[in-house]
Amino acid sequence: MLETFHILVREIEQDRSLERPEQLRERVRAMDRLEDVVWHEATETSATYRAALDKLRRRAQSRHAALAEVQQRLCGAVRCAIVQGAGAHALRGWLHHDDLSEPWGYDHLDALIGDVLSLDEPAEAIAALERDMVFYQPTPVRHVLDLIHRARLRRDDIVVDLGSGMGHVPLLVSICTDAQACGIERESAYVDSARRAAEALHVERATFLAQDVREADISRGTVFYLYTPFTGDMLRQVLDRLHDEARRRSFRIATLGPCTPAVASEPWLRAAGEPSADRVTLFRSVS
Ligand SMILES: C[S@@+](CC[C@H](N)C(=O)[O-])C[C@H]1O[C@@H](n2cnc3c(N)ncnc32)[C@H](O)[C@@H]1O
Repeated sequence: MLETFHILVREIEQDRSLERPEQLRERVRAMDRLEDVVWHEATETSATYRAALDKLRRRAQSRHAALAEVQQRLCGAVRCAIVQGAGAHALRGWLHHDDLSEPWGYDHLDALIGDVLSLDEPAEAIAALERDMVFYQPTPVRHVLDLIHRARLRRDDIVVDLGSGMGHVPLLVSICTDAQACGIERESAYVDSARRAAEALHVERATFLAQDVREADISRGTVFYLYTPFTGDMLRQVLDRLHDEARRRSFRIATLGPCTPAVASEPWLRAAGEPSADRVTLFRSVS
């Protein structure tokens, strides 16, 4: 194992191309691999082995720090462009959404957007989840880009993320499109983080409500997004609310994850294409 780590660290040390900002994917991958070395548990007790492993860990840490600095500079520049109102241009060139072959897990796009949005982890305790509520995890950025691309959002669209967590989806929609976006999230600590990020980035078209989706005002949304925020009876209640709304006007729903088959079986919705839990499915309401 030490020999493998040695070759890996040396390769990453020597690969100067990783310092070029545009090598985002490769750099993030290299940083992940360096972390594997840093956090590797010693498997032998001999002093020579431990000394060699420590030395490798220090080299890995130092190279990781150098690459992290490149990332910070890159994200600083992107943040600056967003604050100055460059919108989608700020991220153009960085965000390619073409590869959805690996539906789950996070990648270099999530690393970039995580740094760009700089969402601070809530300091306060998170309220316990009620039955049927799904714990917080953000939509992988490539799916948000896929949603943005396929929904062809316009200035008069209002995207409502039902169970928005720390707000990745509304923030990205507002940065990358002319549409407005609203996140509804019952955990106020997440909502506070999302609001702070929107304010710091001067993203005014993203708003956040600290409310339960079952009670919040949904009368303005034109696209409702669900990254399986709840299941069972709660999903049923929310689908019934949306169905009531659909009797008054037409709108779209976008889903990702295990809630997709349940949404697809609603007779008042028509899917665009074959519904799949593994990628965003778009539906239109029919009266
Ligand atoms: C799987 S996460 C999705 C986060 C976000 N939509 C995203 O894609 O990045 C589900 C979120 O829904 C929230 N949630 C669950 N039930 C809710 C409810 N009834 N009202 C509002 N938020 C809810 C959870 O607190 C959690 O943050």
